[in-house]
Amino acid sequence: MEPADHPSAAEPSTAVAAHNGDNRAPMLVVEDLQAGYGRKQVVFDVDLRVESGEILGILGHNGSGKSTTIRTILGINKVFGGSITFDGHDVTNTSSRHNVKAGMAMIPSERFVFADLTVDDNLLLGAANDPDPDRRARRLDLVRNLFPILVERSGQLTGTMSGGQQRMVSLGTALMASPTLLMLDEPSLGLAPAVVHQIFDTVRRLADEEGLAVLLLEQNVGQALRIVDRVYVMRSGRVILEESAEEMRNRDSYWELF
Ligand SMILES: Nc1ncnc2c1ncn2[C@@H]1O[C@H](COP(=O)(O)OP(=O)(O)OP(=O)(O)O)[C@@H](O)[C@H]1O
Ligand SMILES: [Mg+2]
Repeated sequence: MEPADHPSAAEPSTAVAAHNGDNRAPMLVVEDLQAGYGRKQVVFDVDLRVESGEILGILGHNGSGKSTTIRTILGINKVFGGSITFDGHDVTNTSSRHNVKAGMAMIPSERFVFADLTVDDNLLLGAANDPDPDRRARRLDLVRNLFPILVERSGQLTGTMSGGQQRMVSLGTALMASPTLLMLDEPSLGLAPAVVHQIFDTVRRLADEEGLAVLLLEQNVGQALRIVDRVYVMRSGRVILEESAEEMRNRDSYWELF
């Protein structure tokens, strides 16, 4: 895929205009989503839209409904109402298994690697459902190119890697499946700022160079604003604000929003 017509993280000011100017079909459209657990509703009236090559930040404090929203998109939580369209297809009530095959990937915030397998074995598991060996090899090259440390440590048991390195393995494993929509649940959690910086730069590159659509859930507003194109702020299960990253960065303070 051609690199998207997209500014780098260092100069992101025209990101939204660049995307509004073309008429690419959105990768994901969520309309009037209602979701929750058992009979308890915790997500209300959520509308979201993300295009190929775009990073959408979903910000909000603990319990605001961010994780429930992406769990419902992936198909591991029940949809109470509304609709979810992925790559032009209605996936409102499809299983997570179906959605992953169709190109969705989610990385939960908790540790998500097989600790007693090597780095390479973790990565290869990510492509286990891909029957095309050439594509598997290309994806492995892509992941190793993004995270050179994973080449150096290819035979190391993943559980003995640092937290940041393990997060790179989980991101790499997700990428091995050639997803078109990547949902990242608080990838910065518990990591040193320099590691977060590196991982976020990689996510921006994937959007720009691979056309990946990204939903980035974060409480780390400063780091997220460096790479996102647009931001949704959630509170008490609702989207209370939608802005371009530039508008958000230009606020004197965004703490009152949360
Ligand atoms: N398994 C569950 N069963 C019942 N209620 C749940 C469950 N998981 C989450 N909730 C509730 O749903 C609401 C939204 O939670 P959710 O995990 O979506 O928020 P979040 O924005 O991801 O928060 P955080 O930043 O802490 O991860 C909260 O009130 C939470 O207590
Ligand atoms: Mg969460």
